[in-house]
Parts: sequence; structure tokens; C-alpha cells
Amino acid sequence: MHIALPENHLKHIVSTDQFTDLHLLKQLFQATDRLRRMPDVERLELLRHKLLATIFYEPSTRTRLSFETAMYRMGGQVISSENADISSSTTKGETIEDTIRTLGTYADIIVLRHPEQGTAEKAAKASLIPVINAGDGAGEHPTQALLDLYTLLRHLGGSLNGKTIALVGDLLYGRTVHSLVKLLTLYENVRIILVSPPQLRMPPAYKHIGVTWEEVDNLTAVKEQVDALYVTRIQKERFQNQATYKKLQQNYVINKKTLKVLKSDGVIMHPLPRVGEIATEVDADPRAMYFEQIQNGIFVRMALLYWLLANKP
Ligand code: NCD
Repeated sequence: MHIALPENHLKHIVSTDQFTDLHLLKQLFQATDRLRRMPDVERLELLRHKLLATIFYEPSTRTRLSFETAMYRMGGQVISSENADISSSTTKGETIEDTIRTLGTYADIIVLRHPEQGTAEKAAKASLIPVINAGDGAGEHPTQALLDLYTLLRHLGGSLNGKTIALVGDLLYGRTVHSLVKLLTLYENVRIILVSPPQLRMPPAYKHIGVTWEEVDNLTAVKEQVDALYVTRIQKERFQNQATYKKLQQNYVINKKTLKVLKSDGVIMHPLPRVGEIATEVDADPRAMYFEQIQNGIFVRMALLYWLLANKP
């Protein structure tokens, strides 16, 4: 089975700014669908002899393990530094550039998560091999946004033109919404409702001109039914003051009652982990897509790994 490569070569994946072309996204999701349908034994041939290095300076369950799963299931191999903040030479004062150059002599591709915004870009500049940003502090998380978009398109008829999407929770520090909002605004007549406490509003840099934005403090202020509710965790680790965090955390809980804001054919999503923002009673609702997102993430990440590695000898 043939997997088409993008026309313009992608070296690194740092931001969803690199995916502001609907044709490129279509190609990516076609590759994703092919990988989803491909028999396991065939997939195992795709990245034989390739080695992935994952290096994570912040906790992760899904992002790291899904990249590693994707790599192994395409026949590749993985080396991993999962607590790099305490276990790598960074603790001795090594720069990220030197760490990345080191990994470049071992592996064929790097997946990096780091608490400081801008580190993925710095790493990409220093690297001779592809670098994928798996989250840079409160900056971006492009591969999560791509799997989120893939999930939205699967359930909302293949396009977001004319759709209303509410982004809920921590829009200031939540890197997944920073990456996602750039993709949502590629569609025509998209309405975006930003639901957050005033202290956690989306930074102006992410609010593109020419898009209809609405900003409200809570879900009860959303007066129309929406096609998608994308809920995020209040990012505890980014708060200086834990009392402020605790106060904000309780305000944005989605349960059966607050779910009235969602259309009957809409979707509810969350990048996970959730820490109470979506009550478990919502899990049985057919519109709940957060577990499907996890599954979709494997295939989208397979496609991205394949694209970045397949051109190499
Ligand atoms: C997110 C992250 O790390 O930014 N998780 C993820 O990768 N699926 C969301 C979060 O931590 O709240």
C-alpha cells in the first residue's frame, strides 16, 4: 500500500503554523487513514532500521507512549529519556543544543517535550535530524492539535466550514488550544467561543484577524448550541500561586447538565489528562470523543513519523 509524501518537504514539526495549508492537511489525513487500514504485518515494514529518540523534560503518558507505539508498530526502534529534567546531563548544566546534537548521532528522529516555550524551535535549529515538538511549556503542542483536527473532521462531516467550536478552560497556558486554534481558523465562517476565566484568556498572538471570536467567562454565558466542545485542564504546573489554581479549577466542570450546550450531533473532546473537568458520567455519551482521540493519535503520529523519515536513505 502506497503512502503519499507531502509535496513540500517537512524537516521538523515545531508549530501548527507549518500546517496552514488545507491541501497539506488533507494529504496528512489521507496518509493517516491508509495507516489505520493497513494490515499490521505490512505496517511493520515501513520504518525498519529507523531509530526514534524521545526526550521528555515534563511528565507525559499519551504523547510519549503513543509516539513510541507508533514507531514500534511501524517496525522502528526507540531510545527514551523520560525524566530528562532530573536524569539527563541538563542537570549538570548542558545546553539543549548540545543534548540535541548528541541525540542526533544516535537516532534518526527526536521527539522533545520541554517546560520552556521556544525550546523546540531552538532544538530544531541545532539539529541535523528531524525534531518533533511534543509540547514546549505554554507554547504549542502541534501533534496533539493535528490529531484533534483529524477527530473533529471525522465526526463533523469532513469540514469545519460554518461550525461553532467552544474552547473551554485554561486558554492562557494550554498549549494544545494554542496549536489547535490556528488550524480551526483555516476553515470558512468558523465561530470560535473562548470560555475561560478572565485570568486565563487566550493570548492575543493566537487570535487571528478576520475570525469571529467571542469571549465569555463561563459555559452558562454560551447561549447557542455548539458543534464541538474542546475542554482543557487548568495547567496547575504553570501557576505560581496554588490557591489561585484551586479556585479556578472548580469552575469549569462538564456534566450531563452543562452538556446541554452541545448539539445532538456534536462532539466533546479533551486532550487528557482530565482532573475533574469532565465528569465520568459524560463518558457514556456517544458524543464523548476523548478516548477516540487517543486512538487517532497513534495513526496521525505514524503518518508524521513516516513523512519525516521516509525520504531518508
Ligand atoms: C496535554 C499537554 O501535555 O499539553 N496533554 C497531552 O499531551 N495530551 C494537555 C495537558 O497536560 O493538560
